[in-house]
Amino acid sequence: MSEKTLSLLKTVEWKNNKVVMIDQTKLPNELVFVEYSDYIDVARAIKNLVVRGAPAIGVSGAFGLALASLQSKAATKEQLLSDLEEARKTLFETRPTAVNLAWGLDKIMQIAKEGKDVDDISFSIVKSAQEMAEDDIKINMRMGKNGSTLFDNDDTIMTHCNAGSLATVAYGTALGVIRATKESGKNIKVIATETRPVQQGSRLTAFELKHDGFDVSLIPDTAVGYTMANKLVNKVVVGADRVLRTGHVYNKIGTYQVALMAKQHGIPFYVAAPLSTFDMKSNPQDVIIEQRNGTEVTQIGDKKTAPDGINVINPAFDMTPPELISGIITEAGVAKPPFDVSIPKLFEANK
Ligand code: MRU
Repeated sequence: MSEKTLSLLKTVEWKNNKVVMIDQTKLPNELVFVEYSDYIDVARAIKNLVVRGAPAIGVSGAFGLALASLQSKAATKEQLLSDLEEARKTLFETRPTAVNLAWGLDKIMQIAKEGKDVDDISFSIVKSAQEMAEDDIKINMRMGKNGSTLFDNDDTIMTHCNAGSLATVAYGTALGVIRATKESGKNIKVIATETRPVQQGSRLTAFELKHDGFDVSLIPDTAVGYTMANKLVNKVVVGADRVLRTGHVYNKIGTYQVALMAKQHGIPFYVAAPLSTFDMKSNPQDVIIEQRNGTEVTQIGDKKTAPDGINVINPAFDMTPPELISGIITEAGVAKPPFDVSIPKLFEANK
């Protein structure tokens, strides 16, 4: 692999009126870029985890709509809006839990509705989707700086899933905080959980951090209790797919048990998420947890590891309740408990 650092290598990018992405299903064995000029292929890529991670799918959704506007043969604004609405629906239906997807799609649809005519709309949404991608990097860097103050020299920081460069356009949310902590001169170590069943921790986080020169150790998910009980970890930071105004955090399956164990061992548990990951309207009962194909559990790669016909429960995300969370790091500052007070305040201050 030739690139010196992955932190600024773009996971998803707009190039010559095409969407270019790293195919994350091929990592860590190959760094392959795929190129799409049809929004339906972008929708398929989101569904099949070619691109994944809440901010990355938000930007990919926006780029999908930008492609749809170029694909449309509409002669009037009304026809174009109707084509875009069809594309929005296809892109939205790919993954239900991360709120960034709806956020990215809604933002672009709003810009489309405000456009004068077909050409004006196409131009504005292609430009806005590109700006959204650039902003994602700036936001992650701000979040990183805000979060780095919570970590000390010689900390060993545990993270779960991949909330890194690969889950965003670049730099990362939770891993952005880890990157910024190291960039501030502190000596830190990282523990990455494997994150079964899709192994975003071993395939992506361990790969990303090792490639970029971090002192990172990989553990099986089953060793979280062991590492905490044996004082091998001081702090935890994870990303999020959705944060409610009450501080309920939806993130990769297994996050809840990491948070519970951190509480048991008195280890601070932080979440890093941009404001675009907050859903200020929903209650826990409204959030749909994506259920994924059982083969993710009955196989490792192509190798069968369970008996034929076994029933599988394979939720992709779980909810960590606010009482287990020490702080939520955003680009606008760090929200501390009680979150139902601090989160609305952050939004108010960021207006
Ligand atoms: O199923 P994935 O890989 O899309 O799940 C990703 C996660 O759960 C990440 O931790 C979350 O999106 C935060 S990424 C900045």
